[in-house]
Amino acid sequence: MRLKTLSFTRISLITMLMCSQVAFAQQADGPALRSDNIDEVLNAMTTEEKCALLVGGAGIVPDVPNVAGYTRTIPRLGIPMTALSDGPAGLRIDPTREGTSQTFYCTGFPIGTLIASSWDPAMVEVMTQAMGSEVLEYGVDVLLAPGMNIHRNPLCGRNFEYLSEDPLLSGRIAAAYVRGVQSKGVGCSVKHFAANNQETNRLENDARISERALREIYLKNFEIAVKEGRPWTVMSSYNKLNGEYTQQSHRLLTTILRDDWGFDGLVMTDWGCKDSTVKSAKAGNDLMMPGFQRERDRLMAAVESGELTQAELDRNVRRVLEYIVKTPHYRKYPYSNQPDLKAHAQVARKAAEESIVLLRNEHGTLPLKGGEKVALYGINSVDFLGVGTGSGFVHMAHVANMQEALTTAGFSLDEDLANYYRHCYALQQDKERMEASSTDKRHRSEPEVSVKAIERQAKANDVAIIVLGRIAGEGADRVVHDDFELTAIERELIQNVSLVYHKADKRVVVVLNIVGVVETASWKGLVDAIILPWTPGQEGAHAVADIIKGKVNPSGKLPMTFPVNYMDSPSAGNFPYRWDMSGRRGTRRNVDFTEYEEGIWVGYRHFQTRGVEVSYPFGYGLSYTTFDYGQPKVKANQEGFTATITVTNTGKVPGREVVELYVSAPSGGLEKPDRELKAFAKTKTLMPGESETLTLTVTTYEMASFNESTAAWETAAGTYKLLFGASATDIRRTVSFKMKKAIGF
Ligand code: BGC
Repeated sequence: MRLKTLSFTRISLITMLMCSQVAFAQQADGPALRSDNIDEVLNAMTTEEKCALLVGGAGIVPDVPNVAGYTRTIPRLGIPMTALSDGPAGLRIDPTREGTSQTFYCTGFPIGTLIASSWDPAMVEVMTQAMGSEVLEYGVDVLLAPGMNIHRNPLCGRNFEYLSEDPLLSGRIAAAYVRGVQSKGVGCSVKHFAANNQETNRLENDARISERALREIYLKNFEIAVKEGRPWTVMSSYNKLNGEYTQQSHRLLTTILRDDWGFDGLVMTDWGCKDSTVKSAKAGNDLMMPGFQRERDRLMAAVESGELTQAELDRNVRRVLEYIVKTPHYRKYPYSNQPDLKAHAQVARKAAEESIVLLRNEHGTLPLKGGEKVALYGINSVDFLGVGTGSGFVHMAHVANMQEALTTAGFSLDEDLANYYRHCYALQQDKERMEASSTDKRHRSEPEVSVKAIERQAKANDVAIIVLGRIAGEGADRVVHDDFELTAIERELIQNVSLVYHKADKRVVVVLNIVGVVETASWKGLVDAIILPWTPGQEGAHAVADIIKGKVNPSGKLPMTFPVNYMDSPSAGNFPYRWDMSGRRGTRRNVDFTEYEEGIWVGYRHFQTRGVEVSYPFGYGLSYTTFDYGQPKVKANQEGFTATITVTNTGKVPGREVVELYVSAPSGGLEKPDRELKAFAKTKTLMPGESETLTLTVTTYEMASFNESTAAWETAAGTYKLLFGASATDIRRTVSFKMKKAIGF
């Protein structure tokens, strides 16, 4: 977060200088921009104006200070400035401004990984409508979100912003996210296109990926988001892909994105400046962000020399203009600076409720009856993490913590223990203030609690709840030791609390307030219940308390696998193990280049097919009720198939169930994973005894694999098994159908 602020201060100085050099002083001496006269405006523009429009700015937007960036204004042609800001857990703008006591806080919604855990695109769309209206009411035109790189490895520092290890789930959730935001008349920028799967040396790292893995895994989710969400803009990534910066890849940004997928919006760079601006422009990267004078100079020189043709220049400028006429700034929308933060807090809470995953619940530990005396452990019970750091941070007026949420939900806390943690937290904050290191919250140290004290607390309370936290953000990946794996103090806390409480016949619940996957296999057996809210936004602690109390029945499921050990991850050997930049530049494995040797065998595709034991499988999540899956019916033809399945709530409390449809392809075609997610659907809230019939549709194209030798998608002929599961490993019903002929695309 602090890193971010520093870099933007630097950028704003540069851009201030840049702005002073651009004098678009005249007013309206050409045609004024309209959606139906873009060619006319294009003809009236000078080359200098065109190049200026292709290079953005950052830092000093008059009305909306401290957004991430903006596009330039050309007043004489009625071209307004438009403002772009992060995303994805809510709008990120500074909460205070000079000269006013008014505040500009935004709602902290659940992070990407949590909304993907909902498996509920309709809910996501409702949530992002609220987000979109904050973007609109704060005078911003584009939300730089959703982040949707595949969870290739559990240590990627930005996984929390991203959605899933599976491209279908990722694509469908991202498409819904985009539809919700854009329904408010503002745009999205899906990012980071593509293969930005590690933060270590992200500006230069070369992701080396086979064509098949690229198409089926790392591009597939973007393809779905583009086709089903129709985002206004796409953000190219910092990294290289097979030797070429993505922002300079004509094949990626024009052939695949536009020609194959039909994307008709604007492509902007991620926030940086590569040497070959002209190559980016030619590739179809229309807008350079945050924008530097030298980029404009390069474009001008290239137009003069003919390296950048007039047609290429005009093509990119046209796309910027087509974007601008859609924006609120163009429409002169009178934004209020007063979004309905109260209502949106409720939306954020509901989204968390619908998404939180219950990982373990032995002996019916949860829900509690209500009103119990709770001994609440863990520094993150006070410093509850709503979102991650970096550009994924949101300035929220308040983040509810677990102390507050449990009290509000009617539990009584062990006050001595609560005070102890409040005190430790205050001390740590003081220390950080003195060391001016408030951003690196990752190393917030877990205070020790003696066995004696735990014994006292176990006597005085009914139940123990332990909150464990993990924070991360842009610019660095996580590490295995003391991050993916628990620290010695955390282990000791879990061990001691479990031992003592179990002796007293009392239960222990763990709440994982984390930004990414952690090791669970070695300690989960010690505790009775585990709740996984990830970092659930500003109201998420209340959602956790409602789940503990049983007011909410959890219905989230994992969007990725929890491996037993880090080294079981298929990419473990090909991912930066820790932040180590030593070695000769350009030659450092996993720093300068990363071999995606695992190919398409990402996540459950690897674990399931190869029978590798996991701690929690993809798609897994418990409920307080049980569901019966009826016999599915399938209608298939050469276009694809439609399946229906009836789900019945067979338990005692209302609840929702996600049905996951995996397809197992016949042998004979390309080698495929044992099963692949091809559709999913979530029931409404079913009352005990109530049923709902879900419909799942899959096209033949969606079943296809990419054949590298023919550079085409193909769906083999033969018998396909359809597996209806409650997770990737818990298959409840299976049916099959026959594809008579192979089909190519
Ligand atoms: C991040 C993007 C973000 C941009 C603007 C970059 O460093 O990678 O995700 O949108 O900054 O803040």
